[in-house]
Amino acid sequence: MGLLEKIDKTRLPSHIAIIMDGNGRWAKKKGLMRVFGHENGVKAVREACESCAELGVSYLTLYAFSTENWNRPHSEVNALMTLLVKTIKAETPTLLKNNMRLQAIGDLSQLPKNCLEELNEAIDSTKHNNGTTLILALSYSSKWDIVNSVKKIAQSVKSGEIDIEDITEELISKSLTTEPFPHPELLIRTSGEYRLSNFLLWELAYSEFHFTDVLWPDFRREHLYSALLDYQSRERRFGKTSEQISS
Ligand code: IPE
Ligand code: IPE
Ligand code: MG
Repeated sequence: MGLLEKIDKTRLPSHIAIIMDGNGRWAKKKGLMRVFGHENGVKAVREACESCAELGVSYLTLYAFSTENWNRPHSEVNALMTLLVKTIKAETPTLLKNNMRLQAIGDLSQLPKNCLEELNEAIDSTKHNNGTTLILALSYSSKWDIVNSVKKIAQSVKSGEIDIEDITEELISKSLTTEPFPHPELLIRTSGEYRLSNFLLWELAYSEFHFTDVLWPDFRREHLYSALLDYQSRERRFGKTSEQISS
């Protein structure tokens, strides 16, 4: 039996988040420039999208560029932005074919103008699709999002719109840029790194984590299926006892 057949289709996560890591090391191992790693990561993005669409996973968030990534050498940042524009353009037909809707989270105002235009165009042309929603985290950092959320809430208190007592977990969730989406049940990070790197700190509070040594450009359908099987082997207790969960 293949991995796909082993997956219980009735117990899929509704939202998978992926930290796509290891492009640079993939290229280095082959004696190539880092940018080749990024270019070869596109196929992995396509496979992850198509598998989620085929399985019927409602949301897929991909960490594509962090706030901290702006501190990389200019040449790499420029190459990544160029690749982003090229990829969004080239992959929009794939999104349409798979009935996928594109969304983005992050400080998008920091993106180069042509990049933002391309992104908005793809968001607009896929807005009527009702299959999997692909959320690109671009110029994103969770602390940035939380700081903005705190500012918004403080402003509402100051203006008398709400009382301090109205500040709840729900209100905080609603003030984040991830507000339209459910919190991911499953987080995957590739490349053998065991950290969140400022990704969805609030939203991943009770998610299952799956780490793999596979470098992102090598990530294929089977790796996603393995992650899903790993997820389905977990008992999600949310603070309760195992006995309470099984009864
Ligand atoms: C992930 O691969 C892609 C981005 C962060 C944009 P890296 O570029 O971080 O690759 P490594 O971690 O250096 O191998
Ligand atoms: C996290 O990867 C960001 C993305 C995958 C876009 P990094 O490679 O930037 O993370 P660190 O610096 O190793 O934590
Ligand atoms: Mg990295």
